[in-house]
Amino acid sequence: MNILMVCLGNICRSPLAEGILADKAAKAGFNWLIDSAGTSGYHIGEPPHVLSRQTAASHGIDISHQRGRQFTKEDMQRFNRIFVMDEENFWEVRRMAGSEWDETKVSLILELLYPGEKREVPDPWYGTQKDFQFVYDLLDKACDALINSFAAENT
Ligand code: 4NP
Repeated sequence: MNILMVCLGNICRSPLAEGILADKAAKAGFNWLIDSAGTSGYHIGEPPHVLSRQTAASHGIDISHQRGRQFTKEDMQRFNRIFVMDEENFWEVRRMAGSEWDETKVSLILELLYPGEKREVPDPWYGTQKDFQFVYDLLDKACDALINSFAAENT
């Protein structure tokens, strides 16, 4: 399985999602390729936000090696599933994918927890440590659901 996490900056939310899922997949013994990208090019080459790094580290997950990159339409083919954090990310991925767009691969990550509710992971960019922890907790539960549904499908 190749899974891509997408947000706007690839600096706050999707790096956390990538780190959390990579940790859970490794612990579950799944040899998955997990990556993240931003719809914007604002933070290309930058490490994750210091509060994303600190929040992940407080849960034993090191995301400091990650570097920001922008989503490309080739990602649509390289990945089996693409999880976006909010509706704006969804429409941007759709626009940027152009002719490569595949609706069956892309969904809001919180649909894993709340199907049909179109809930979003809030952008913590102007927030505090508490906001990053809130994002972490949402992503942690969503990634648990992803691991569990995959395990159930493959037993
Ligand atoms: P992210 O958060 O999409 O979770 O990485 C943001 C990061 C940067 C900006 C906005 C959101 N920005 O405007 O630079």
